[in-house]
Amino acid sequence: MRATERDAEMDLKAQIDRNKLPHHVAVIMDGNGRWAKRKGNVRIFGHQNGVKAVRQITEAAGELGVEYLTLYAFSTENWNRPKGEVDALMGLFVNAIQNETENLLKNNVRLSVIGELSDLPASVLKQLQSAIDYTADNTGLNLVIAVSYSGRWEITSAVKKIVKDVRAGNLDPEHIDDSVFESYLNTSTIPDPELLIRTSGEKRISNFMLWQLAYTELYFTPVLWPDFRKEHFYEAILDFQRRDRRFGRVGDQANTITVNN
Ligand code: FPP
Repeated sequence: MRATERDAEMDLKAQIDRNKLPHHVAVIMDGNGRWAKRKGNVRIFGHQNGVKAVRQITEAAGELGVEYLTLYAFSTENWNRPKGEVDALMGLFVNAIQNETENLLKNNVRLSVIGELSDLPASVLKQLQSAIDYTADNTGLNLVIAVSYSGRWEITSAVKKIVKDVRAGNLDPEHIDDSVFESYLNTSTIPDPELLIRTSGEKRISNFMLWQLAYTELYFTPVLWPDFRKEHFYEAILDFQRRDRRFGRVGDQANTITVNN
């Protein structure tokens, strides 16, 4: 990075109000395939370069003091991609987790995952579990990887678990409210994201955290994921800090409420 670029990055970072950070930032990492195509290369080349952006954004979020960072790495629908790409992505996950675990430890990052883990190849599960165990005592950023995940899958899984508990007599249907429902989601211990970033210019949620995004601020950038750097992350946070969040109330009321999202 050139000195002028570093200065611009530091300048953006300095503008961020540390008292108004989103507790949880979620990211739809998009555009790896298009990035590779523009360079005349194969799609997996884009995914490989996406790992650099993952490292940068994890570092940036940790340094700022963001508590949770969720990255959408592989959706339920992504299983329908050509087998070669799915296999290559699974191999990339294993390598990336293996290579980055020391870095996570050094940066005090605690790793966790959400998604239908039973669908994952044993090699990916094993690597994930070992990184989760290895970083379990870290107290800094919580990095959540969404893999084989989709919002509808998560909601229908929660409904199945609720029905089981009702049938077993452990749950009174009359007592089901937002917080009871949330306790059945994969994210039951994680606050809702306050900011969602999607790269590559697409303006869609794509079946990501459908329940949790109810009041989330959405930020769309044309930058393709492999090009996404700390400066882009800081720009997204600054944009979030300029917004007026009302949660269905009028402006003055919203300034005094203390919900976690
Ligand atoms: C979307 O781009 C990206 C993915 C489906 C994979 C994301 C994976 C990584 C960045 C690899 C490393 C991740 C971790 C957490 C270790 P796309 O393929 O849909 O791009 P396109 O829309 O341009 O085709």
